[in-house]
Amino acid sequence: MTRKINIFDTTLRDGEQSPGASMNTEEKLVIARQLLRLGVDVIEAGFPISSPGDFESVRRIAELAGDQATVCALTRAVDKDIEAAADALKYAKRPRIHTGIGVSPSHLRDKLRIDEATCIERAVHAVTFAKSFVEDVQFYAEDAGRSDYDFLVQVIQAVVDAGATVVNIPDTTGYSLPEEFGARIAYLMDHVQGIENVTVSVHCHNDLGMATALSLAGVRNGATQVECTINGLGERAGNTAMEEVVMAIRMHQNELNGHTDINTREFIKASRLVSSITGMNVQANKAIVGANAFAHSSGIHQDGVLKKRDTYEIIDPAEVGAGASQIVLTARSGHAALKHRLEELGYEFEGEELDKLYEAFLNLADKKKEVYDEDLESLVNEQGREGEVNAYTLASVQVSCGFPLKPTATLTLENTEGEAITVCEYGTGPIDAVYKAVNSIVMVDNDLSEFSVNAVTRGIDALGEVTVRVKAANGEVYTGRGADGDIIVSSTKAYLNALNRLIAEHR
Ligand code: KIV
Ligand code: ZN
Repeated sequence: MTRKINIFDTTLRDGEQSPGASMNTEEKLVIARQLLRLGVDVIEAGFPISSPGDFESVRRIAELAGDQATVCALTRAVDKDIEAAADALKYAKRPRIHTGIGVSPSHLRDKLRIDEATCIERAVHAVTFAKSFVEDVQFYAEDAGRSDYDFLVQVIQAVVDAGATVVNIPDTTGYSLPEEFGARIAYLMDHVQGIENVTVSVHCHNDLGMATALSLAGVRNGATQVECTINGLGERAGNTAMEEVVMAIRMHQNELNGHTDINTREFIKASRLVSSITGMNVQANKAIVGANAFAHSSGIHQDGVLKKRDTYEIIDPAEVGAGASQIVLTARSGHAALKHRLEELGYEFEGEELDKLYEAFLNLADKKKEVYDEDLESLVNEQGREGEVNAYTLASVQVSCGFPLKPTATLTLENTEGEAITVCEYGTGPIDAVYKAVNSIVMVDNDLSEFSVNAVTRGIDALGEVTVRVKAANGEVYTGRGADGDIIVSSTKAYLNALNRLIAEHR
């Protein structure tokens, strides 16, 4: 039997650190349900001291997970962070506090401005303090990938002696080469006494596009936990993608002496869900979950695959949930069918909320005969947003454009007092005209940094889903999404959604 490799998901913590990928508690719960379906061993649910929203998410996810998964909360090596994490995890059946400190020369000298002895002292104190609340304490040695080997051994030895149950060796900046990172893990395995009694974890970033390779090098050399995110979401270039590392372990079980307990058939669903909730689109050629991951275009390849699939395909698409038959709802589908399908997608709606969603579903089903999962996800996204307090809502939008007309938009927004404000603007195109009209009412300083339109499903009647990212004056990025059969309407909704989020945070 090969070693069990634990899968530690940090989509809801490190993943959320991707600019513009922030999620509210309800959205995090939807993703957490999908993580439970995948069978992850640990869910890192947030950084409780950072905001009341993060605290609440950790608390609710701990409740949701019960004893199905360990729920982990991040802290710095600071007492008040650890107290907040312990408080958020109070009702967790399997709580874990994840505390740590920077260990590289750059972090010690330029960020923390402390010497090595102080670093060890703080690390030991943090672990000991966290142990006074929970048994399961994970220590991270931030920027371990650029640290001195022997100093890293000293830090890890000290926290193992202090009772850490898991030691996390992150390549925080994605700097290492796989061979070197593997050698670092091997060095720790050889030089830290008692390391065989704790779990060694790897947490690798993708700055050089090698996060998965780094994690596998860690596993090959002794790590038995991999930290990762769905779609590789995460700070800067992201983290190790769960779907990649799990499929690589599955494909190379013997060489890596490892297996995971992940239900890989849930990968495509998980990928779509995270992409739809965060507005971070998955590139078509992304390994495992990209739209082209199993598409064969050259004649030679098609011929080979038709003769025998594994001539050009190392993974059966069904193993990752690709090409699974779709349930299609129509205007004849009742409340129960909608509720059931939503539950399968990870959403729970009851009572009035379900009635409202059903009404929106019928409206859509009237226009568009077949309603696919992606359509439902778009509807849910819209509905979810209704709970948010919006400074402005869209009352109407109309554009006139074409050759040789000057694109003109007439827009009416309602503010929170129910007052309707109407403006008319010209633009270089219809969307530019609408966005100028929105700006002249909303009047918040912002820079539109990204605009994309996706057909949610195939067919001429597909919903057009627009994702925008706007940069506030302080540099923070806000994502907005809107879906409608009319892309001018979805573009307006998306922009307004991003600006409402920006306004809500700056109130
Ligand atoms: O990249 C990193 O070092 C982290 C730690 C907080 C684990 O995300
Ligand atoms: Zn990280």
